[in-house]
Amino acid sequence: MSALILEGRPLAQKMRASLAGRIAAFKRSSGRTPALAIIAADDNPVTSAYIRAKLKACAAVGIKAAVHAMPPVEGAILSLIGTLGRDDAVDGIILVRPFPNDADPRRVAEAIPPAKDAEGMSPANYGATFLTKTYAEAASGILPCTAFAVIELLRSAEVPIAGRTATVVGRSNILGKPAAHLLNILDATVTLAHSRTPRLESRLAAADIVVACLGRPRFIRGSWLKQGAVVLDAGINSVDGRICGDVDFESACKTASVITPVPGGVGPVTTAVLLSNVVRLAERRLAA
Ligand SMILES: NC(=O)c1ccc[n+]([C@@H]2O[C@H](COP(=O)([O-])OP(=O)(O)OC[C@H]3O[C@@H](n4cnc5c(N)ncnc54)[C@H](OP(=O)(O)O)[C@@H]3O)[C@@H](O)[C@H]2O)c1
Repeated sequence: MSALILEGRPLAQKMRASLAGRIAAFKRSSGRTPALAIIAADDNPVTSAYIRAKLKACAAVGIKAAVHAMPPVEGAILSLIGTLGRDDAVDGIILVRPFPNDADPRRVAEAIPPAKDAEGMSPANYGATFLTKTYAEAASGILPCTAFAVIELLRSAEVPIAGRTATVVGRSNILGKPAAHLLNILDATVTLAHSRTPRLESRLAAADIVVACLGRPRFIRGSWLKQGAVVLDAGINSVDGRICGDVDFESACKTASVITPVPGGVGPVTTAVLLSNVVRLAERRLAA
């Protein structure tokens, strides 16, 4: 079997196109453009590529984006978040991951005002996500971008989810955990695997849908997958200057029926979800 390659760009393009009218209406009503503040406290090839992609995408749809380069110090980051939170011209705030060692992700999440929380990680937005019982309800909130991107990609490819077995590998708050919740409310039976999960290969062998988000380059082998599995690879790793996912793409293509490439799969959709979150936050503040 040779898998269908599920590219992210067509869906990302569609999502971005659907924002154009809303951004124009926001500009007419508010007299300004929606604005995203990107706090960058780490400098490495993956984060630099991440920031470049966000800036380009914002410019393409007419969102004003500003990068705030910061020292990797929690106090300074929290103080900047406070300033951005009080700035009426800022609609969304994100802090680029990985977080500096000195910054506690929970304190950062608590500092970001829910009304400007473009990644859905403030306790109010994150809690609201996990209180949802239907996908429509979840999708009307501010969701963690990559988790939502993974599920939207599955839905765009019309992959059946209800009644299927799904294994999410990686249980981070930003990605694996909310992705598992969204699959769960879409009626998949979900295993949320992590670094202490015994016999990971057997959990994968039983999975109709695999979401890889463990941050280990090419870790998941094609021979571990169920024949015909649908594989969403959210991993972004830099190996010898090249970006690769958490799944060994070459071997997985022989077993999977559908697989996302890295780069070009989950990443572009994640960016489109971020844009959509910023526009939604801007609209909500205007209406408040
Ligand atoms: N596509 C995108 O736009 C996007 C956005 C965000 C992140 N990412 C990428 O997604 C990946 C995960 O990011 P993250 O922020 O969720 O990472 P993270 O916070 O480091 O979490 C990694 C998770 O993977 C688990 N894990 C690590 N090694 C494992 C193993 N050998 N077997 C099973 N589970 C294992 C960890 O388990 P424990 O909990 O037991 O430690 C943890 O739950 C990274 O490659 C990151 O760059 C992509």
